[in-house]
Amino acid sequence: MPESRDQPLVLGIETSCDETGVGIVRGHTLLADAVASSVDEHARFGGVVPEVASRAHLEAMVPTIERALADAGVKASDLDGVAVTAGPGLAGALLVGVSAAKAYAYALGKPLYGVNHLASHICVDQLEHGPLPEPTMALLVSGGHSSLLLAPDITADVRPLGATIDDAAGEAFDKIARVLGLGFPGGPFIDKAAREGDPAAIRFPRGLTGPRDAAYDFSFSGLKTAVARWVEARRAAGEPVPVADVAASFQEAVADVLTKKAVRACKDNGVGHLMIGGGVAANSRLRAMAQRRCEDAGVVLRVPRPGLCTDNGAMVAALGAEMVARGRGPSAWDLSADSSLPVEETHVPAHDHVHEEELRKDNLYS
Ligand code: KG4
Ligand code: ZN
Repeated sequence: MPESRDQPLVLGIETSCDETGVGIVRGHTLLADAVASSVDEHARFGGVVPEVASRAHLEAMVPTIERALADAGVKASDLDGVAVTAGPGLAGALLVGVSAAKAYAYALGKPLYGVNHLASHICVDQLEHGPLPEPTMALLVSGGHSSLLLAPDITADVRPLGATIDDAAGEAFDKIARVLGLGFPGGPFIDKAAREGDPAAIRFPRGLTGPRDAAYDFSFSGLKTAVARWVEARRAAGEPVPVADVAASFQEAVADVLTKKAVRACKDNGVGHLMIGGGVAANSRLRAMAQRRCEDAGVVLRVPRPGLCTDNGAMVAALGAEMVARGRGPSAWDLSADSSLPVEETHVPAHDHVHEEELRKDNLYS
């Protein structure tokens, strides 16, 4: 259903990794989602090269903003605010987005909202499934993060329950794809190969699932090593590597741990809704297993469509619109990119009055 025109119209810019994303949202309605990816430029390195990503953002920024405005059929002057990922992410890449957002917001005379990338990944689900229940449990799994977050208020209160202690889930997919000679990024290739394989063929280890292990933390480096060793041993013995079975068994181990811990977090905290976001949420086995385990536990599962799970500007616009709707104050004009912005900081508020005074004093006397 179209939302009324008095819902905030917000443009969101995302440049934390290799996607230049610009989204336009009115309230909970997605009007445009323009993405330019530099992923092909990183493929031959098997991972994202920060300097290459920053340069690509710079080149793609203005055309992507113009494309989003044209797709949405709105004028920049109609916007109620400009939101941008302030962190976490690659410092140089973030800086391009923050600088662009400042320039547009300042030139247009609109408020600027520096928001958290992780909270945006959660908030994007509002564009697909309507308002997020409060609290919502979120499992964020991408190339950069694997986190379990409890979100009583997506604009102001997001609490980390656990995270990976080594590799992110997506990183493990990318590395195992390389071991198996599949393409980059590895997730979609493993997902595809696994369809022809037996998930029970090889029992790979499930990290941090012992009785004394942290209930909500993840570890994928042991799994990664186990898979690599298994493959190496086959090759050393001159035997063929059953790629589909290895892919399916590896994927099974990842999906098993992620869904078990996420459902447990819901139960332990009395939360009835689980959302899964980030690039790995596109994984077909993870989605199917989460669906079954949530049903068994009486938890409602919300997973946005794959295009909204991977990095995009719509998610930033969605959180920006929510900030405006809930009357959260904008960021200051000296907003800076923070590559390690803590997840609890859903947005970067303007400095308090005292701090502004100090800044003025500094300017006066220095
Ligand atoms: O959220 P995203 O686009 O960027 C980051 O913030 O990292 O996530 C990218 C990650 C990559 O590691 C990619 O291999 C993984 O998401 N991915 C998948 C699938 N599609 C993307 N992993 C497993 N199965 C998939 N179908
Ligand atoms: Zn992300």
